Amino acid sequence: MKVGIVGTGFVGASAAYALTLRGSCTELVLVDINEKKALAEAEDIQHATPFTHPVRVTAGNYKDLADAKVVILTAGVNQKPGETRLQLLERNVKIFAEMVPQVVKAAKDAILIVATNPVDVLTAVTAKIAGLPEGRVLGSGTTLDTARFRALVGQHVGIDPQHVHAFVLGEHGDSEVLAWSGASISGIPIGEYCVQRGIEWNDKTRKDIDEKVRKAAYTIIEGKGATYYGIGAALARITEVITRDARAILSVTAPDSDGLAYALPRIVGGEGIRETLEVPLSTREAIELSKSVEVLKEATGQAMG
Ligand code: 2OP
Repeated sequence: MKVGIVGTGFVGASAAYALTLRGSCTELVLVDINEKKALAEAEDIQHATPFTHPVRVTAGNYKDLADAKVVILTAGVNQKPGETRLQLLERNVKIFAEMVPQVVKAAKDAILIVATNPVDVLTAVTAKIAGLPEGRVLGSGTTLDTARFRALVGQHVGIDPQHVHAFVLGEHGDSEVLAWSGASISGIPIGEYCVQRGIEWNDKTRKDIDEKVRKAAYTIIEGKGATYYGIGAALARITEVITRDARAILSVTAPDSDGLAYALPRIVGGEGIRETLEVPLSTREAIELSKSVEVLKEATGQAMG
């Protein structure tokens, strides 16, 4: 099972490492315009395989992506401190316009996972350029924000975050929506769980978590210049859901019938996205989600010219 990664900056390299640690594929090809960097990352990660899983990690060019089941696109510029994801749009659209046709030509049957920001708009752009059947182009969307949400709730209630069921929807960015109304600890609504266990739970608790999730990237970029471990793990998870046909529910982004991409919980399996789920939301969440979609509509309109 071959997986390709285009772009071996912090995000691409972290995804490659996470894929190897998890054994999410058997072959991994790293492609970068800086061939020396791709080769160095491939060698470094290959040296981890006696301690991880027997993944064959190599560096290559576009044509080495032939027969890949999944290709992850991470190439592009990333945010400087204080910069928003949407401010990267113009620069990264240019890079994608050049890269995507080459990827599609080389890896005809691959499912494409977009990770570069602004990820929702670039997923819409990629889908348009690639012209692949529905479900075959998806973006990491809010899988990372959802993970941040689950991690922080898990920490607050003292529970393994795998048992926190909650989603972040809409833009992977400032307008994203934390869907509190449906969030649960293994089926028990969080508020009820906290009352049962005598754990603090009020508007302030929710506001603090909401802010930490929404601002996470800004805080991390301020501290160390970039975010990469969280997204690397999210990309490995999305990829293995595809390579194992796991049919997991992930908040990935994908274009709707109008070509507008935003994150909703979707069933993902071996063929990419199988279904998009309708989530019951509170009135306030539904309003926030439509505002988030509006933000993306404007940005996508700009990008598609
Ligand atoms: C993140 O949320 C910067 O989009 C990246 O970590």
